[in-house]
Amino acid sequence: MIALACDHAALEMKQMIKNLLNEMGLEYHDYGTFTEDSCDYPIFAARAAGAVANGECDRAIVICGTGIGMSIAANKVKGVRCALCGDVYSAEMTRRHNDSNVLALGARVTGIEVARLIAKTWLSTEFEGGRHARRVELISKIEAGENLG
Ligand code: RB5
Repeated sequence: MIALACDHAALEMKQMIKNLLNEMGLEYHDYGTFTEDSCDYPIFAARAAGAVANGECDRAIVICGTGIGMSIAANKVKGVRCALCGDVYSAEMTRRHNDSNVLALGARVTGIEVARLIAKTWLSTEFEGGRHARRVELISKIEAGENLG
């Protein structure tokens, strides 16, 4: 199950992602927003990222104008590793190396077809584990307040 969230700047891109998920046969839950009325992106980021953190959803895609606000907000949720991607290489590598569980996109900065390829790549790339698992574990330790030295 993929959690989706956007603000008023990204309704069209969220619809494109829904179409992609339908094509890929992946289920999703849309946590809003649903209208073009101006809204506060952290509320929607928290809903989608929270759904990943509590296990309701496997991963999430969050979209705002730049993707920056959504990514900052999502990364405040414990257990979330949100990657803001504007290119396909980063989308592949953040799955392979960072095991990112939330993807952020910027609807006002990334073309819709590029965003489609980014999302498709991110959704279909697996984590490599190995030495990268150790590094992801270190990120979790930072989150837990441990001093990495
Ligand atoms: C909304 O105007 C805009 O600030 C928002 O979509 C996002 O870009 C924030 O980071």
